[in-house]
Amino acid sequence: MRSVAECVSEARQWDRLMQLAKLGAIAGDGVNRPCLSALDREARRLVIGWAEAAGAAVSIDAAANLWFRVKGADDSAAPVLTGSHMDSQPEGGRFDGIYGVVAGLEVLSALHDAGVVPKRAVEVVAWTNEEGSRFAPGCMGSMAWAGHTPIAAFAEVLDADGVRFGDALAEQLAAEADLPRRVLGHVPHAYLEAHIEQGPVLENEGLDIGVVTGIQGSRWFTVTLTGETAHAGTAPLAGRKDAVQDMVRAINALNALMHDPEDVLRFTVARVTVAPNSSNSVANHVRFSIDLRHPDRDVLLSKGDAIEATIRAAVRDCGVHLHEWFHAMPVAFDALVVDTVEAAAAGYRSRRMASGAFHDAQFAVPIAPSGMIFVPSHKGISHNPAEYTSPSQLAAGTRVLARSLMALAS
Ligand code: GLV
Ligand code: MN
Ligand code: MN
Repeated sequence: MRSVAECVSEARQWDRLMQLAKLGAIAGDGVNRPCLSALDREARRLVIGWAEAAGAAVSIDAAANLWFRVKGADDSAAPVLTGSHMDSQPEGGRFDGIYGVVAGLEVLSALHDAGVVPKRAVEVVAWTNEEGSRFAPGCMGSMAWAGHTPIAAFAEVLDADGVRFGDALAEQLAAEADLPRRVLGHVPHAYLEAHIEQGPVLENEGLDIGVVTGIQGSRWFTVTLTGETAHAGTAPLAGRKDAVQDMVRAINALNALMHDPEDVLRFTVARVTVAPNSSNSVANHVRFSIDLRHPDRDVLLSKGDAIEATIRAAVRDCGVHLHEWFHAMPVAFDALVVDTVEAAAAGYRSRRMASGAFHDAQFAVPIAPSGMIFVPSHKGISHNPAEYTSPSQLAAGTRVLARSLMALAS
């Protein structure tokens, strides 16, 4: 009899990923599949079909997290849970997130093919809105499941077209009203998420598997600068309240605040909106995002808490408003889950490592023993259409996932 890991099919998994990559395909092999969009729903229907073929029961919860469950021999025992997200960045790749969902599904298909019934049920989840690129912040589905933030708290968040998150969620739930509903939130026996590394470490070191030990912390802010619009040809520079010029001053000062000779701290300004956004009118309004990350909680707190005063001291003419959207403190994964993954990676070249990206797994940590498995990312490229991991590297990660889940479920 073949083991579950032996029944993991590299070809089936790759074929599924490539079918999903067609939904929202963009130039350069990329994917743009926003959460709670028609494309997202189309992708979910594909995945639901594969899950049903593997004998899984399908359900959704009030946050539109999508669940697949294969029964265990002792179905009253807490299930082992795996999964990730199906939404992408606007210029995203074919693997970020969706790999973890397809890998979980591949384990369900392999269980089916192997004819194995583990002691505990195995569940796969596709979390709603991990990326936070359509509706900020990310990880809404996992935060709501974990009791970190109620899903209703996000209702008024708007996307770039002014659509409320609450309305987009209601539309999704209505479109999937044929699926059984399950209660939002439960306590699994363990949570384990497979994901691409999104960095260069595994490839540079010639390794197959990252045994993830924890995730660095992150904080998201929006800065709003309010000045006054004026005629670009006539208004003297001295009297202007130019929001773009003050943004440049603010970002220069923040770069100095965030300077880290060790290059551990991550500071990114990547979303900017300007009004009236006209070449010959002085800008009266600028809004820009800040994404701050660090593995050390104290550094994350002190640098993040210094942002507002730094901006106020740097700007010359504009009003300043700072809003913090999101914070996730650094987490360490459960030693038992980390050891289980490391043992399951026997025969592969692996190392322990921390995650620079945030993941839904971060919010599972307070709920259940949790961990993650990384597979290599070619040249470390991610959040970019050129994201690539080979079919065999992806299959190796899924075999390690299968072995780990079987160990945790037995
Ligand atoms: C997740 O996509 C992140 O930004 O880390
Ligand atoms: Mn991801
Ligand atoms: Mn991502």
